[in-house]
Amino acid sequence: MANVVVVGAQWGDEGKGKIVDWLAEQADVVVRFQGGHNAGHTLVIDGTTYKLSLLPSGVVRGGTLSVIGNGVVVDPWHLVDEIARLKTQGVSITPESLRIADNATLILPLHRELDHFRENANAALKIGTTKRGIGPAYEDKVGRRAIRVVDLADADLLGAKIERLLAHHNALRRGLGIEEVDAAALKSELLAIAPQILPFADTVWALLDEARRAGQRILFEGAQGALLDVDHGTYPYVTSSNIVAAQAATGSGLGPSAIGYVLGIVKAYTTRVGEGPFPTELTDAIGEKIGERGREFGVVTGRKRRCGWFDAALVRQTVRTSGIDGIALTKLDILDGFETIKICTGYRLDGQVIDHLPASQADQARVEPVYETIDGWFETTAGARSWADLPAQAIKYVRRIEELIGTTVALLSTSPERDDTILVHNPFED
Ligand code: IMO
Ligand code: MG
Repeated sequence: MANVVVVGAQWGDEGKGKIVDWLAEQADVVVRFQGGHNAGHTLVIDGTTYKLSLLPSGVVRGGTLSVIGNGVVVDPWHLVDEIARLKTQGVSITPESLRIADNATLILPLHRELDHFRENANAALKIGTTKRGIGPAYEDKVGRRAIRVVDLADADLLGAKIERLLAHHNALRRGLGIEEVDAAALKSELLAIAPQILPFADTVWALLDEARRAGQRILFEGAQGALLDVDHGTYPYVTSSNIVAAQAATGSGLGPSAIGYVLGIVKAYTTRVGEGPFPTELTDAIGEKIGERGREFGVVTGRKRRCGWFDAALVRQTVRTSGIDGIALTKLDILDGFETIKICTGYRLDGQVIDHLPASQADQARVEPVYETIDGWFETTAGARSWADLPAQAIKYVRRIEELIGTTVALLSTSPERDDTILVHNPFED
């Protein structure tokens, strides 16, 4: 019985929410291991839509334990709001159903302010972040001056930690001309929210290790996508965490052998939000059509997503950097009705054909996609529940993707509804 890691295999927004929900029904524990409330995971259950940013998707179903691991950055005020919002939809979240790693890093208002300031200061330098303070919070974690969940329990130590943090931030803010942060005010804000956070705090690594030894099924829920990984993505146009599957171990406190099956979530075309290279981007009517049909607007920021053809070279790369064992292919139906469809198989750079995106930022901006064109299909694939329901050309497209990326389809999702799924191989039964 394998534990399963779900990772986005493109630039995020691959439709992870639905697949995680589909798998969560078979899991005992669902764990978030990186990122924060920059994620936007949409679940549709019996016609009701739930939008989650920070909470693991398991919270919506009873009977599974949800865990926020040490690798996540937690905005405590956002957490309280998200729990309250779900309560209005009838979802109750208690310390019995949710645990937060006591060694997870907190996102503070000063992180959000810095994120906003940098993004608004210079259009040429902007990354196009979600402005939620994710990057600045991870910087403080690595800089060894972050406030962590456990610090909320010790008022004296918290004061000293805040002094250390502000020695850095107030110097920065003076330089940028932003008003300095008052230590006493920050401390009282944190102590005011603490009673709503501390009941969820736990020694998550130990709890997960026990669950694993007891033979429970653990589902690791990745956010973002591997091309936004701080090491393996299109740096510097990335998020500030590791996203690749190996992070499931580090970000939850388990050893790498706890990871069983790695399921990559792959959209049948490509999208990206924010700045950065996108070789197969379509800025024409076809791109508009894909965006409209696919409702490609951000869950978190409402921004319009950039759209383009499927880039097999990039996904082949993430299949390798995440050790993907099989994929869940989503949103195939958005390509219904196109006369022809293009797939990028590699790039042309200075007259040479290359099979991967180079690391240099300048080269990434210059590569030209090499396309192969296949005939489309006019029948609808939406809602299909078996291969027999799919037009032959659609199957051909899927088979060609498998060949090019070097792994096979385990699940094919044909609508946001959980039952509209074609199962080839159950990742938990690997
Ligand atoms: P889910 O989990 C798509 C992108 C932002 C920006 C970059 C850095 O819904 O797939 P950040 O705020 O993280 O510092 O922004 O990363 N980004 C996402 N894009 N889906 C996401 O999450 C994303 N989370 C961050 O648009 O380009
Ligand atoms: Mg998103």
